[in-house]
Amino acid sequence: MADKHSRLDGPLCTAHRQAMADIRNIVVLTGAGISAESGIDTFRSAGGLWEQHRVEDVATPEAFARDPDLVLRFYDMRRANIQKAYPNAAHDALARLDQYWQGNLLIVTQNVDDLHERAGAERLIHMHGEHLSAWCLSCDGRTRWHAPLSDRPACPQCGEAALRPDIVWFGEMPYRMDEIDRAIGQCDLFVSIGTSGAVYPAAGYVRTARHYGARTLELNLDPSQGSIMFHECRMGRATDLVPAWVDEMLTHQAERL
Ligand code: OAD
Repeated sequence: MADKHSRLDGPLCTAHRQAMADIRNIVVLTGAGISAESGIDTFRSAGGLWEQHRVEDVATPEAFARDPDLVLRFYDMRRANIQKAYPNAAHDALARLDQYWQGNLLIVTQNVDDLHERAGAERLIHMHGEHLSAWCLSCDGRTRWHAPLSDRPACPQCGEAALRPDIVWFGEMPYRMDEIDRAIGQCDLFVSIGTSGAVYPAAGYVRTARHYGARTLELNLDPSQGSIMFHECRMGRATDLVPAWVDEMLTHQAERL
């Protein structure tokens, strides 16, 4: 299994296979890399979103207070773009894992697109919010939202023109942290897919998972910042690596039954 594009440390391959065969509870963390092959820009690659826009201008509560039109137009553009994209083979594979995996599974995505759920995944948490949700700052209600926000539409729940993107900006608290922490504390395998490991708390999950005794696997185009923390790293495109890994897991499960 280990070739020049992968790193497998610790025990030898047989022990590794045994460890994989014993896996029941899985947490999968995904980042922008899983949606890259669907045509959605990542953040930190060359030409990525944070090269085109300063985080401080578009992705903080302060930016929204200072220049709401700019921020709303930025997210309107991105909301329109994700609606033109389609799930790829990696999203499809995770949805297949969700459908057939009999143990616990939680897919935690940092992505704000809806490609995991459009592929059919259900055991899913959007820790950084969602493009297709609008949050009303007047009544605190959330509404499924596909249209622009920069023309200041009224909140369908209270009528006030106080909607903002339901996106977790820098300086804000990610969503459903308790559930994520609980799942990581109980998982046997933690898998990180297509994330650079630059943003906490997600970047720290591999360390937490190891602390609780989980096996850890990275699937990524380039090694993440926390790559050294993983027992195994496989480097390549998500559309190649993720379907192959899901096949492996479902085969282990079938052999166990
Ligand atoms: P990044 O843009 O930081 O990292 C994307 C990762 O995907 C990199 O490690 C790439 O090597 C990898 N990648 C690119 N193409 C790939 C492919 N085809 N297959 C597999 N991997 C590929 O994106 P994130 O790590 O998701 O937060 O960024 C984390 C957070 O930072 C985002 O959720 C966002 C951002 O600022 C907020 O907006 C709060």
